[in-house]
Amino acid sequence: MDANKSIELLNRAVGDELQAVHQYMYWHFHLDDQGFAPLASLLKRTAIMEMGHVEELAERILFLKGDVRMTVPGPVLTITEPAEILKKAAEMEVNSARDYNQAALECSANLDAVSKQLFESLVADEEAHFDAFDKQLDNIKRFGPNYLALQSFQSGDESGGA
Ligand SMILES: [Fe+2]
Ligand SMILES: [Fe+2]
Repeated sequence: MDANKSIELLNRAVGDELQAVHQYMYWHFHLDDQGFAPLASLLKRTAIMEMGHVEELAERILFLKGDVRMTVPGPVLTITEPAEILKKAAEMEVNSARDYNQAALECSANLDAVSKQLFESLVADEEAHFDAFDKQLDNIKRFGPNYLALQSFQSGDESGGA
């Protein structure tokens, strides 16, 4: 196994996850500000899960005697319209799942079964995130913009507080 090869793949994933944490929290703030508490809560919960992914990747990188590259690779998109947010978020999840599937294959070829398994578990999580975003998009299409407006009358407590 070439540890540096795995470390590079893991660090690229760290960047992708940090990007998602920043982007999803930005969307959480705006959705909360617009009064869409349940959707705001979904974005915040997903951001926290992506932070958990950073941690899992970081643990593996340190085990392989590398260091964690804590750099957000790109700017945060300033999209604030709910359907546009969901469309972009779903797209981000599809891209992550695709990249991690590829990374799992590369780790396998590098005889690093543990990193391969980590990437495979991330693929499963990102697919679940995609599904959650896609369901919301679908509901907007089925029930129209009223769907989100009605959500704003639900308990604001679900946003997880400050
Ligand atoms: Fe993730
Ligand atoms: Fe995700």
